[in-house]
This record gives sequence, C-alpha cells and structure tokens, in this order.
Amino acid sequence: MAMAKPREMGDHWVPMGCHLLVIEDLFLEREGRLILRGVNLAVEEGEIHAILGANGTGKSTLAYAIMGLAGYRPNKGRILFAGEDITEKSVTERAKLGITLAWQQPASFEGLTIREYLEISKRAGRGYLRIEDCLALVGLPPKNYLDRTLNDRLSGGERKRVELAAVLAMAPRLAILDEPDSGIDVLSLDDIMEVIRRMNRGGTTVLLITHREEFARVAHRASHLCGGRILKTGECAEVVQFYKNFCKECTHINEPELEKTEEKG
Ligand SMILES: Nc1ncnc2c1ncn2[C@@H]1O[C@H](COP(=O)(O)OP(=O)(O)OP(=O)(O)O)[C@@H](O)[C@H]1O
Ligand SMILES: [Mg+2]
Repeated sequence: MAMAKPREMGDHWVPMGCHLLVIEDLFLEREGRLILRGVNLAVEEGEIHAILGANGTGKSTLAYAIMGLAGYRPNKGRILFAGEDITEKSVTERAKLGITLAWQQPASFEGLTIREYLEISKRAGRGYLRIEDCLALVGLPPKNYLDRTLNDRLSGGERKRVELAAVLAMAPRLAILDEPDSGIDVLSLDDIMEVIRRMNRGGTTVLLITHREEFARVAHRASHLCGGRILKTGECAEVVQFYKNFCKECTHINEPELEKTEEKG
C-alpha cells in the first residue's frame, strides 16, 4: 500500500490516503430482519474514526460484522482490511491480521487472572507497554487487580476497564471499541479519551463506536450511522451537527425517513 505524506491532526500524525478498513455496500440480516442496509465506510490507517449513531441503529451489528462473529456474515457486500478481502475469513483469521473488538458488554473470562489475560493480550499483538501501566491508565491500581480472577465478581465497569487495558497491552492494528464508556462511571470521559489517544499513539487505528457526540472530540473523523446506513462521513464537527439535527428527536429508529433526511442534509 502506498504511503502518502502524513498530515498533522492535533498531536497525531496520520498517514493520508491509506485505507486500512473499507466496507463496501454491506447488507446484513438477523432473524429475518435487515439491520445493515448498504453500509459504505473507509477508515484511514492511523486515524481515530468515530461511528456516531442513536440506539438500535446497527452500531454493534456493524462491529460484529467487521470482527466476523458467527451469525454476522453479510448477505451482500465486502469488507477489506489492508487491501485484502476478509469477508469470508473467520474471527480467528481476522484477529491474526490485527483486528480486535472491545465489547459493549464485556464477557468474563472465567478462571484467568487479570495478569494472565493482559499478558496473553500483549503476546497476541505488538504491544510494548507494561501491563501494570495499561491497568493504571484505565484507573485500576495494578497491585489491587493484577492477581484478581476475571469472573462475575468483577463489576461490569471493572471488566470494561480491564478490556480497554487489554487493547492497550495488545496494541492491535485496528481496535473496534463498542461504547467504551458504557458501565464506566468513575473514569471521566476525558480519561477514556486519553486512553484512546494512548492506543492511537501506539499505532492502533481506532473505530470508536458511540452514541455520545462528546467522543467526537478525540476523533479525527466521524461517520453517522442511521437505520443501518452511513449517512455522512467527514470532519467531526460537521458530522456531530448532522447527528444533532437529525437524531436527537428521531422517531424512526432503524426505519429512517432517508429521503427526508438527505433532503435536509
Ligand atoms: N438477532 C437479532 N434479531 C433481530 N433483530 C436484531 C438482532 N440483533 C439486533 N437486532 C436489532 O437490530 C437493531 C440494531 O441493533 P444493534 O445492537 O446493532 O444496535 P446499536 O446501534 O448497537 O444500539 P445500542 O446503541 O443500543 O447499543 C436493533 O433494532 C436490534 O433490536
Ligand atoms: Mg450497541
């Protein structure tokens, strides 16, 4: 892939014109219901790209389709990663290529200690941060947490933070973060954004899935998902304005009046 001249965005250097992830006309049906309805999206290598969308618009479904989870094979369309068509690849093959998903509702990995989980994550990727530093960055004191077991006794918020720490430890090529703030109340939004910046500075391209427009502050570009389609991609401020105008009082969740929206946009 040709590397173009970098462009400066805040304190980030972003290679320009290099698409790490390209989604072409993706349709996906679950239990007879069409959820993704022709998603087109291009994420540049090195950027933090926010996907903004209200509840039920298909954000998690899109995340699972990119990760290749069972039951989320598209009915139509293609997913390209680093120029390679990965539409038919398994979740394991995609993970090996460097794609990681941090879940909206993280699972508990029964039996492993947090230390083991973070070490496994680090070995699976190209991470260079110490696992202790990864935990501290997400607000969990390492001495209190490293030897705890990942089980149901950890709160949802603690599991969520451990998962963010695992992404930091792994430093994958692409991290899909599905609502990274959900369930986390102690860490402020600014602290989560700092974690995302650290990830990005470590070389990870971030697809940041959220319904909170404040997160656009950390992103280089954003896309607005509505009713299973990307309605707009561009500079964050522009996309946030579009989202505010058309989604805050949307009465057509997953059934947008596209024609009307496009007219106004
Ligand atoms: N297995 C399924 N069968 C039928 N409908 C489903 C299935 N999974 C999800 N849906 C529907 O698809 C739509 C999109 O769901 P999805 O979880 O992707 O939304 P989301 O944008 O992540 O929402 P949230 O912001 O609440 O997390 C919702 O209307 C949901 O009810
Ligand atoms: Mg979701």
